[in-house]
Amino acid sequence: MILVTGGAGFIGGNFVLDWLATSDEPVINLDALTYAGNLETLASLAGDARHVFRRGDICDRALVDELLKTYCPRAIVHFAAESHVDRSIHGPGEFVRTNVEGTFTLLEAARAYWSALEGDEKAAFRFHHVSTDEVYGSLGPDDAPFTETHPYEPNSPYSASKAASDHLVRAWYHTYGMPVVTTNCSNNYGPYHFPEKLIPLMIVNALAGKPLPVYGDGKNVRDWLYVKDHCAAIRVVLQKGRLGETYNIGGWNEKPNIDIVHIVCALLDELRPDAAGSYSRLITYVKDRPGHDRRYAIDARKIERELGWRPAETFETGIRKTVEWYLANPEWVANVQSGSYRDWVAANYGDRDDSRA
Ligand code: NAD
Ligand code: DAU
Repeated sequence: MILVTGGAGFIGGNFVLDWLATSDEPVINLDALTYAGNLETLASLAGDARHVFRRGDICDRALVDELLKTYCPRAIVHFAAESHVDRSIHGPGEFVRTNVEGTFTLLEAARAYWSALEGDEKAAFRFHHVSTDEVYGSLGPDDAPFTETHPYEPNSPYSASKAASDHLVRAWYHTYGMPVVTTNCSNNYGPYHFPEKLIPLMIVNALAGKPLPVYGDGKNVRDWLYVKDHCAAIRVVLQKGRLGETYNIGGWNEKPNIDIVHIVCALLDELRPDAAGSYSRLITYVKDRPGHDRRYAIDARKIERELGWRPAETFETGIRKTVEWYLANPEWVANVQSGSYRDWVAANYGDRDDSRA
C-alpha cells in the first residue's frame, strides 16, 4: 500500500491510473477536492478495491495520522498542492497553507509513523516529495539548464511556497534522518490537465472559437514533459532513488510558448479542421504575467545516469496524443468547465466545501 496525496489532480490522477495499471499494490488517495481535484479522472477505477479514496486536507494532522495507522503504507508520494502560478499571484495565502503548512503536517505525521516502524518496514519506508523546476528561478538565454545544485531563486508565490516545502523535506532528512527523496520536474502536459494551464487552455479555447491568450511577447521558454513520463520517473525514483537526494526530471524539450501554441493550432487544423480557417487566427497577445520567469530548462542527466530513466515520448508524439485525448473526451472538458463534475463528487463524497474552492 502506498499513500498518494493529491491523487485527484492532473499529475496525481495520472500517477494513480498508471500505478494501478502496472502494479497490484493498492493506493490510498488523500485529496481535498479543491477546484483542481476531479474524481471523474479516476472513474475507470470505480469498484476497484485497490483504490481507496479519502476526501480530506493534508493540513489535517488527525486525519493523516488516522490514515497512516489504518493503512500502514510503505511510502507516501506527495503531489497535493496549489499548482497554478496565476492563482498564486492573486491569492498567495492558500499556496502557503497547502504547500508549506500541508507539507509540514505530512512530514510530521510521517516522522511519527516512521519512527514507530521497525526492521524491514522501517528500512523500506519512503517519503517522496513531488516538486517543480520553478524553485530554481529564471534562466537567461545562454545559461546552462538547471542541475540539482542550482541555487534556489523562486520568483512567484507558487514557486516560493514549493521552495519552502523542498527545504522542509531536506531539513527532515538532515535533522531527523527521515527517508525522503525529492523530484523537481519541468512543465507537464497530457490527459486530464485542467484547462487553466497553457496547453489545455489553448486546445479548449480554440475548439470554442475563443481567443488564445499569449502572455507578453510569447517568447518565454518552458521545458515540456509528457505526464506519463513523469509518472514513470517517480516510480523509478521511489524504487531506486538514493535517500536525501533530489532528482531533476525533464524532457529536453525547450520551447517558446508561441511555438507551443502554433503546434497545437496546426494539430487541430489537421485533426478538426475549422471552416473559418486556421486556429492560429485566434492567437491574441495579452498583458504579461507579473514576474513572469523567462526561461526554464532541466538538465536530467542525473536521473538518466543513476536510475536509467528516459522519457518514452518526444514532444511531437506526446502533444499529438494530448490533442487527440481532448478531442476524444469532450465530456470531461465540458464537466470541468461547467463545474458539473462537482455534482458527481457531492453525490459520492458529500457536499462540496465551498470555502476551499
Ligand atoms: P493540480 O492542481 O492539478 O492538482 C493538485 C491536487 O491537490 C488536486 O487534486 C487538489 O484537490 C489537491 N489538493 C490541493 N490542496 C489540497 C490539500 N490542502 N489537501 C489535500 N489535497 C489538496 O496539480 P498538478 O499539476 O497535478 O501538480 C501536482 C504536483 O506536481 C504539485 O505538487 C506541483 O507542484 C507538482 N508539479 C507540477 C507540474 C506541472 O507541470 N503541472 C510540474 C512539476 C511539478
Ligand atoms: O515548470 C513547472 C510548472 O509548470 C509547475 O510547477 C506548475 O505547477 C505548472 O502550472 C506549470 O507552471 P507554468 O506557469 O509554467 O504553466 P502555465 O501553463 O500556467 O504557463 C506556461 C507558460 O505559458 C508560461 O510561460 C505562461 C504562459 N501562458 C499561460 C497561460 C495560462 C500564456 O502565455 N497564456 C496563458 O493563458
